Amino acid sequence: MKTTRKLVGEGGGKVILFGEHAVVYGHPAIAAGLGRGAMASALPGERHELTVIDGTSGRVIERVGPDDAVSLARAFSEMLRVMEISTPVALRVTVDLPMGGGLGSSAAIATAVCRALAAYVGDESRIDDAVRASETVFHDNPSGIDQFASMNAGLFEFRRTPEGPRTRVLRHEPARILICRAARGVSTSEMVAHVRDLHTRQPQMSFAIDDAIGTLGLLAAEAIERADWQAAGELMNVNHGLLCALGVSTLELDHACHVARRAGALGAKLTGAGGGGCVVALAPEREDDVVAAWTQRGWKAYTFDL
Ligand code: PMV
Repeated sequence: MKTTRKLVGEGGGKVILFGEHAVVYGHPAIAAGLGRGAMASALPGERHELTVIDGTSGRVIERVGPDDAVSLARAFSEMLRVMEISTPVALRVTVDLPMGGGLGSSAAIATAVCRALAAYVGDESRIDDAVRASETVFHDNPSGIDQFASMNAGLFEFRRTPEGPRTRVLRHEPARILICRAARGVSTSEMVAHVRDLHTRQPQMSFAIDDAIGTLGLLAAEAIERADWQAAGELMNVNHGLLCALGVSTLELDHACHVARRAGALGAKLTGAGGGGCVVALAPEREDDVVAAWTQRGWKAYTFDL
């Protein structure tokens, strides 16, 4: 190790506006990096240790070593292995995102930790591989969309290809998106496995749904670039319907979408892996109505400017 200075790294959260799950199978998706996420610091320690702290309350959410039997520990162990860290390091990560809610907290943490570790050892060359190894623990078969968003800002189209991610930044007018945390999240790998099972049992049907989701992504990119929020909202509603067809929505997520639409949203859909977690809505000039309708029902709402 070169230094005993405290070394830091950042990683951002993300919101998927179109195309989750189908993106795993190579279809286009649209996501935005959120201007908040995770901040990690690395210091020499007595043993390898990763402490995750909630940015709002300052509370320690989880503290693990690489040999513990939980997903975060396995991810930490993967990051240390790929980054080739041998001498003990203590990492503290402050997370400014709801955890496990489909907003990319696992990729934000991994990016922040790997960037801090890279600064610690003075070698940035393994960051991408180390974040991917960590994401594989959480996602099973990650498309890479969360990783790309955690490392880059802005609104982009993303496609997984055998040669690596193909991405395109979307030019767009300023827009505000609304996010509602409608229920506790479940593990992304569980939902990815559920969709994989469906593809095994019902391949023709599942691939037809993926194709339709991919088409929506392409139409949505065009709608966003011409600031046609009405069309983009309509496409979000249809995308939610197709995610229901894949079996990843829940009563709470459907309810939060309907509440948003009734309060004036042009579109609303679940975001991320589903099974719980968050809904995203587009409601130009009706943002306050939608946020009020969600919060009246006891759901936490967030707004982000793209
Ligand atoms: O990290 P989550 O829970 O927002 O889900 C990521 C999106 C998926 O398409 C379900 C998985 C992936 O790797 O693309």
